[in-house]
Amino acid sequence: MSLVRTEKLSKTFEGGRKAVDEVSLSIEEGEAFGLLGPNGAGKTTMVLMLACLLRPTTGDAWVDGASVIQDSLRVRRAIGVVPQEIALYPTLTARENLEFWSVMYDVPSRERKKRIQELLVVVGLADRQNERIDRYSGGMKRRVNIAVGLLGRPKLLILDEPTVGVDPQSRNSILETLKELNSQGLTLLYTSHYMEEVEFLCPRVAIMDQGRVIAHGTQEELRLLVGEQDAITIQLGSVPPDDILDKVHAIEGVSAAHHSEGDLTVLSNSGRRVLPAVLDQLFDAGVKVRSVAVREPNLESVFLHLTGKELRD
Ligand SMILES: Nc1ncnc2c1ncn2[C@@H]1O[C@H](COP(=O)(O)OP(=O)(O)O)[C@@H](O)[C@H]1O
Ligand SMILES: [Mg+2]
Repeated sequence: MSLVRTEKLSKTFEGGRKAVDEVSLSIEEGEAFGLLGPNGAGKTTMVLMLACLLRPTTGDAWVDGASVIQDSLRVRRAIGVVPQEIALYPTLTARENLEFWSVMYDVPSRERKKRIQELLVVVGLADRQNERIDRYSGGMKRRVNIAVGLLGRPKLLILDEPTVGVDPQSRNSILETLKELNSQGLTLLYTSHYMEEVEFLCPRVAIMDQGRVIAHGTQEELRLLVGEQDAITIQLGSVPPDDILDKVHAIEGVSAAHHSEGDLTVLSNSGRRVLPAVLDQLFDAGVKVRSVAVREPNLESVFLHLTGKELRD
């Protein structure tokens, strides 16, 4: 069963602006699902409706079987939310903030201390927990916010652009932490306008623009929409035998193979999948390989292909 399902979920704000327009999608348990779209696409509005903080105009959504309209209490128990804006008390320490929020999240009092300590370790702040939040960097504040989102032991963690305003090093550490949490079974809904983050974290992605989901599927499925093939370029270190192109061409999934000036170029709908077989053929023929590069259409090219504009303005 899907952990999240939305059915023609829509939100029209006063003045008639359709921020979210009939979005239907589902997220399976254990998945890291990406919602990718430029500013104003409707990502935060989606998140707020799933978190029962904003009522849908029409349509509905279910989290763990509970409707956001009919059964918001059960939805809230199943989710943790890391909002776009930092929601912490600047004059309190990280630990004090977590203590405050653990009361709000009904963490049983005898479990609080242990859970807070565990979460401070998870987000890598155990050694800085007694410093005031206003002395923290943007990235550290984000990490406290992630710990807050995890306090209620949610099945689903929803993160709304959690790396905006964060330095690159903290950004990587946040993404690594989320990947680790996901590998331990936590379901993630991750919104971003950064293609690289979604590519790193989320095998399945919905691309949003102007309130609509314009495409969704696995990254590979989305890349196929562009209609461009992956190109593998292999720099050879020795002269290959005459039949090497035939052998490479015979590999399932390879649509073309060329050899010129010491470079072997292979075209395929799935460069990563055919690469090992191509290298095996070269190895069997005793050909030396100097370097390998795979160029594949990315989510940015998918967005450009579908909307005619860049993801980032
Ligand atoms: N409270 C609101 N009232 C009116 N319009 C809003 C409100 N919140 C968001 N919008 C509009 O809805 C659209 C989607 O916004 P949002 O969900 O914040 O997008 P994103 O998070 O993808 O940047 C935008 O055009 C935004 O201006
Ligand atoms: Mg937003």
